[in-house]
Amino acid sequence: MLRAMRILTGLQPSGKLHVGNYFGAMEPAVRLQERGEAFYFIADYHAMTSMRDPAALRENTRELAVDFLACGLDPERAVFFRQSAVPEVNELAWILSTVCPMSLLAKCHSYKDKIAQGIAPNHALFAYPVLMAADILLYDSDQVPVGKDQKQHLEVTRDIAVKLNETFGEGTVILPEPIIRGDTAVVAGLDGRKMSKSYGNTLPIFGEEKPLRKLIMKIPTDSTPVEEPKPVENSTILALYKLFAGEADYQAMVEDHRRGGHGYGDFKKRLADAYWDFFAPMRRRRAEILADPGHVERVLAAGAARAREEAAKVLDRVRRAVGLA
Ligand code: TRP
Repeated sequence: MLRAMRILTGLQPSGKLHVGNYFGAMEPAVRLQERGEAFYFIADYHAMTSMRDPAALRENTRELAVDFLACGLDPERAVFFRQSAVPEVNELAWILSTVCPMSLLAKCHSYKDKIAQGIAPNHALFAYPVLMAADILLYDSDQVPVGKDQKQHLEVTRDIAVKLNETFGEGTVILPEPIIRGDTAVVAGLDGRKMSKSYGNTLPIFGEEKPLRKLIMKIPTDSTPVEEPKPVENSTILALYKLFAGEADYQAMVEDHRRGGHGYGDFKKRLADAYWDFFAPMRRRRAEILADPGHVERVLAAGAARAREEAAKVLDRVRRAVGLA
């Protein structure tokens, strides 16, 4: 049967959206919704493995929904929902866990990293990749765009899918293809390292103008005097400016570095202006969304209904295959 290619990805609601999230996840997801039938969800069940504050989980989930819509997720094209609004995913996770070897989970880097950080090794943390496999397989996903850190989880998903099909028959679930984002998607943080919440070097997308501009003005720089040429290699200011400015403006700033006569304060000001202008349409859209208090819940409810329809079909097929129906 011919059907549209299904593209699925999940995002954890882990706090304020930053520029690294935008270029690494939001912008590619928005672009991909043109390419097939996109299923995008907020991974609130997964977030519970690191969050114990119900109010924060609720708030972060809602905020991510608002921000993703503001960034261009189009609910007319993409199916957008909360992971937990489709509880069927838990049943599939259970079924998958019956064919998932412990050793497959024990070797997962993200599990080992979290334990190394001193996080208590609870069952959900260990079983995290099984739930993720269920997220993907429940919707017969063809393509799954993720960051490099999720590559191993996608391999686990495929291993589990193969195992299920070997055990209960080919076609029980569909094998997904990962689309792994390359290094080019890594955005420089305010301290020059990779932008990441865990480094505390993020530039948020939304917020009050003054404190956001201040963050940019505080980017550390060397002490080259104003009149002298400035290094263009490893420049955090240039790396960020390239994301927001047009090619001509970017080249002009590179030239001004090489030539000298411009201070870092001037470069930062240009960067702050470009950043502020770049997100202006998203900021406007976000204000519109917030002005309609029921909008986000309506979008998520419609998305959940559509997702559940699809989940029911796949789960029915799997239940029959394993003998539950
Ligand atoms: N684990 C992913 C992350 O932290 C989020 C996620 C959960 C996901 N389920 C998924 C991503 C299914 C892709 C497909 O980024």
